[in-house]
Amino acid sequence: MANDRNETIDLFRRFVIGNYKRYPVCLVRGEGSYVWDAEGKRYLDFFPGWGCDLLGHCPPRVVKAVQEQIAQLIHVPNTWYIEAQGLLAQALVDKLGYDAQCFFCNSGTEANEAVIKMARLNGRPGRYKIITMLNSFHGRTLGALSATGQPKYHQGLEPMLAGFNYAPFGDLEAVKKLIDSETCAIMVEPIQGEGGINLPPPGYLEGLRELADQHKLMLIFDEVQTGMGRTGTWYAFQNWPIQADAVTLAKALAGGVAAGGLVAKPQFAEKLVPGTHAATFGGNPIACRAALATIETIVADNLLERAVHLENLFRRRFEALKARCPLIQQIRVKGVMIGLELSCDGTPIVDQCIARQLLVNCTHGNVIRLLPALNLADDELHSGCDILEQVLLGHKP
Ligand SMILES: Cc1ncc(COP(=O)(O)O)c(C=O)c1O
Repeated sequence: MANDRNETIDLFRRFVIGNYKRYPVCLVRGEGSYVWDAEGKRYLDFFPGWGCDLLGHCPPRVVKAVQEQIAQLIHVPNTWYIEAQGLLAQALVDKLGYDAQCFFCNSGTEANEAVIKMARLNGRPGRYKIITMLNSFHGRTLGALSATGQPKYHQGLEPMLAGFNYAPFGDLEAVKKLIDSETCAIMVEPIQGEGGINLPPPGYLEGLRELADQHKLMLIFDEVQTGMGRTGTWYAFQNWPIQADAVTLAKALAGGVAAGGLVAKPQFAEKLVPGTHAATFGGNPIACRAALATIETIVADNLLERAVHLENLFRRRFEALKARCPLIQQIRVKGVMIGLELSCDGTPIVDQCIARQLLVNCTHGNVIRLLPALNLADDELHSGCDILEQVLLGHKP
C-alpha cells in the first residue's frame, strides 16, 4: 500500500470525487484521543470521527468485539435472526426506559429516512407534513435533506420532498402556527449540532411535547449527534422531563463502526411492516457487536458521569478565556458538545490548531465545535485547551 502522504493525496486527486474539503493530512492510526499521520506526527483529537468516535479511536472492547465477530460471521441479511441485533435493540430500549422497538440501518440520514416514512405511514390518511427547525441538520439523502432547515444545502437540488415546514429553533409560537390538519410530526435535534451547538431555551422541548400531544403528532428527536451519552444521559432528551415518540441514532452508536438506528414507541414502530422499509446492511452482526461493546464501555467506565465532569472542566476553561478573549461571543456546552461562537470566521482558527497538532471543527461559519471523546483524560483536555487558547488569543482577524 502507498504510505507516502503525497502519493495518497495524488490518488485522491485522480480517482476520488472531490465533494469533501480535505486537509493535507493523511491519517494512519488512532488510539484514544490521539491520531497519527503518515509522517508519524501525533495530533490531539477534539473532534474524533466527526462525533462518531465517542469512546476515542479504536476503543479496546469495540476492537475485540469486531475482531471476534468478523472471524465468525461478517454479514447475513435481515431474512434471518441475529442474536446481537436483538440484544442491541433490548439495550437501546432499556436505556430509553419505556416500551419501544428498534430498526437498524447504517447512518444518520438513513435513520431519518426511516422515521420520516414511519411518521407519514402513521399520519395516513391525509397527514404527511413534518415540522422541522431552521438551522437543523438531518442528513444528505433527499428526504432527510428536505427535513434540514438550511436552504444553502438545498441549492441546485430542488425540488425538495414536499411537506416540510421550518420553524426557528426555540420558537414554540412559530411551531404552533405551522400545525395544520395535514401535519403528522415534529422533528427536532434536542441540541442543534451542525447548526452551531444551539441549546434549547427553557421549556422549549416540553412545549413541543405538549403541542405534539394536543395535535396527535409524533415527536421525533434526531439524536444522531447528541445520542449515546454525549450529553451525560443516554439520550439527550432525557435531560428534560419528557418522552420521545421516536429517536434516531447513528454516529457514536457503534463506537466508530458505521451504524444507524431508530427507536420508536410500539404504536409507531408497528407502522413499518414488511415492504415499507429495509436496509441490506442494517443491523449486521459486526455493527451490532460494536454497538453492544460501546454500551458496555460507557457503563463499565462510568462515562455518563464523565460527560458531566468534562462539561464542567471545559466550561470553566472557556469562561476564564472569554474574559480575556474578545473574539469569543458565547460559550455553549452540554456534556462533550461544545460550541464557541466567535465574532470572526472560524476557518483560520481550525487551520492554526491543526498546525499545532490539535484537531477541532468549525461549523456555521463562526462556531468552533468540539465533540471530544467521553474518555478524554483531564490532562489531554487541558493541553488541547491550552493550544486553542494560544490560537484564539493570538488571532487578529
Ligand atoms: C443531527 C444529525 N442528523 C443527521 C446527520 C446525518 O448523519 P450521517 O452523516 O450519518 O448520514 C447528522 C450528521 O452530522 C447529524 O448531525
